[in-house]
Amino acid sequence: MYRLIYKSQPRSPLQWEDIRKILHQSEANNEQQGITGVLLATENCFLQVIEGRYEAVNQLFIKLVTDPRHYNIQLISFDLIDSRLFGGWGMKGLGLFDFNTEEVEMLKHKYGEEEGNIHFPLDSWKTLALIQDLKMLRELPEWRR
Ligand SMILES: Cc1cc2nc3c(=O)[nH]c(=O)nc-3n(C[C@H](O)[C@H](O)[C@H](O)COP(=O)(O)O)c2cc1C
Repeated sequence: MYRLIYKSQPRSPLQWEDIRKILHQSEANNEQQGITGVLLATENCFLQVIEGRYEAVNQLFIKLVTDPRHYNIQLISFDLIDSRLFGGWGMKGLGLFDFNTEEVEMLKHKYGEEEGNIHFPLDSWKTLALIQDLKMLRELPEWRR
């Protein structure tokens, strides 16, 4: 089992609708390929974690690299792993523009700032820590919708 993490920039400023389209497109393909993971997005940055078999993860990354919806793709890690961290998530989308000002400020303080948004680290451990923080925020009652 492998885990690949990369960061990229959308061609145009993102809205939730753009992410929804990507997730919709990913659903059937990821399930068929046994891929799980998470896609984080601010208005001007993507960060994606992809888990699955070597061939499946590698093939998806090749497709992603040529997808015109994003550019400046930076590979953060491609590691052999014992088990999945996001086994229950076909591809979970987390739009950081959904979080409230106080929480965004807290995350900016912890992870840094990038063009007015939360900085997505170029480091696999920090990336996984950020996702863990976001998961915890979402599980608090006030984040339930
Ligand atoms: C940021 C981003 C993340 C994406 N994530 C996935 C994904 O997890 N799974 C997937 O199948 N396609 C994903 N896509 C779309 C692929 O690049 C590609 O368009 C899609 O897989 C359709 O390929 P197909 O025409 O070969 O079916 C993503 C695209 C972008 C821009």
